[in-house]
Amino acid sequence: MVLIESAAFAICIGALYFYFTRTFNYWKARNVLGPKPVPFFGNIFESALRYVHPGVIIKRIYDNYPTEKVVGMFRMTTPCLLIRDLDIVKHVLIKDFDFFVDRGIEFSDEGLGTNLFHANGVTWRKLRSRFTPMFTSQKLKNMMHLINDRADKFIDYISEITFKNPEQDIYSLVKKYTMSTMAACFFGLDIDTLRGDTQTMMRIDKAIFTPTFAIEFDMMYPGLLKKMNMSLFPKDIKKFFKDLVETIMTQRKGEPSARKDFMDLILENQNKKSLETINSDTNAEVLTNDEIEAQAFAFYAAGYDTSASTLCFMLYHLALEPEIQNRLRNEIDVYLHRHSDQIELDTFNELPYLDQVLNETLRMYPVDDTLLRKARNDYKCPGTNIEVSRGQIILIPAIGIHHDEKYYPKPEIFNPENFAREKVTGRHPCSFLPFGLGPRNCIGIRFAQTQIRVCVIRLLSMFRIEIFKNTVRSFCFDPYRIHIAPNKKLYVNFYPRMDLNL
Ligand code: HEM
Ligand SMILES: *[C@@H]1O[C@H](CO)[C@@H](O)[C@H](O)[C@H]1NC(C)=O
Ligand SMILES: *[C@@H]1O[C@H](CO)[C@@H](O)[C@H](O)[C@H]1NC(C)=O
Repeated sequence: MVLIESAAFAICIGALYFYFTRTFNYWKARNVLGPKPVPFFGNIFESALRYVHPGVIIKRIYDNYPTEKVVGMFRMTTPCLLIRDLDIVKHVLIKDFDFFVDRGIEFSDEGLGTNLFHANGVTWRKLRSRFTPMFTSQKLKNMMHLINDRADKFIDYISEITFKNPEQDIYSLVKKYTMSTMAACFFGLDIDTLRGDTQTMMRIDKAIFTPTFAIEFDMMYPGLLKKMNMSLFPKDIKKFFKDLVETIMTQRKGEPSARKDFMDLILENQNKKSLETINSDTNAEVLTNDEIEAQAFAFYAAGYDTSASTLCFMLYHLALEPEIQNRLRNEIDVYLHRHSDQIELDTFNELPYLDQVLNETLRMYPVDDTLLRKARNDYKCPGTNIEVSRGQIILIPAIGIHHDEKYYPKPEIFNPENFAREKVTGRHPCSFLPFGLGPRNCIGIRFAQTQIRVCVIRLLSMFRIEIFKNTVRSFCFDPYRIHIAPNKKLYVNFYPRMDLNL
């Protein structure tokens, strides 16, 4: 008996082993080099078990094949191609975009799934063309009063709390600011993220940005979640955004208000489109409520966390490097003096060093560490004889490229000179990808840059930021967050500027 049972057990194990390694010959058969996969997990063992952030694995694979143009890897048992060569990157993101319209994160396309970030093909094109006009400089200019107002309140808040205690954890601090700007600019909400109750917002934050195993499941069985109509996000997230949008729509009685936030832009657009549909037979469709809720979700989520991480890393490095901080502060002082303390969108070009510091932060910490594209059709990688097959996922390792000494000498040192003009013009256009590139790049670039700049300008004009004995000098990326964020609290001291009191 025992013998039979053990034999049956061994056969089961053997069958499972065979099943969970069945694809592992894929890249070898095509002569593509790559790291050795382990059964079931492929090459993402450590991130699937949340030992390390996925960005760390991608960077390691990038670093380990310095002479390859592409590297074959496995996310769980699914073969994916990681691109190292910047000319191929350019083809995938820009020149041959029609092959790579989709991002390939697939879950139910009902409910929150119809958002711009996750949508595919025709739906994506419709949404992108509908929302692009809402991100023009004119629209952003109209929103400057909201951003300026949030920044001023944020500074008051910091003055108040740091008077009692200068030591602050910067990540949770700046999140309060980005959450309040996003809520103000997107929903016209005056939520008091500063002094008020932040529990709801923090619960939403956790539910959206803690990775769930649905992600690994989708890597293992691409498309199955979608077939099963399963979402990546818990049900109450959907309900939160549904209630929010309905409340705002009712408050505004279907008409735009005077705030000129994104909800107004959506309402304006809806009213215009419904007129067009009545007056002509063009196929101008109005957005469904589901679609509006999904975009509210996507813009809010994509907007605050990325900007908060970026601000956090930037302030941390400014605290570590007083020389950089002082040079930046001088630039800001001159700017504010010249413009009677007013921050305007069209004067940002007078702050070139701020731009360099921001870009250097995004170089070291591309919060979205890896860009994804899914092949719509079989595709021959230019300059190689490698075929990408239809449905395959392409990974573009922004984090690896940004830390490659071929493009950035001494990549582990924070050095804004990497973005001095002559350095930038000498580099490949695809060597800097914090917002992606091509038709599917980040739609919120200017919004993000603006909310970050306004915050840093106001902060440095009022405070010195300094490290102290509790400031950590090394940290990792938090494996329990989707975006890149520190796994430890980064404490710095905020002191009111002495020179202002004189
Ligand atoms: C520092 C801040 C930000 C960073 C680093 C960032 C980065 C990115 C990246 C890397 C992508 C993917 C691009 C690609 O695949 O080529 C992306 C997409 C996107 N981002 Fe951002 N983002 C930031 C802020 C924002 C803000 C403020 C918003 C909203 C207003 C936003 C909305 C979006 C949306 C909707 C997409 C999907 C676009 C599409 O698929 O068509 N992002 N972002
Ligand atoms: C998919 O799930 C949503 C709820 O998450 C539900 O409203 C919808 O009816 C489902 N669709 C199908 C085809 O089962
Ligand atoms: C910084 O990056 C943005 C886009 O990511 C770019 O438009 C800008 O020119 C860059 N500035 C410098 C100084 O490299």
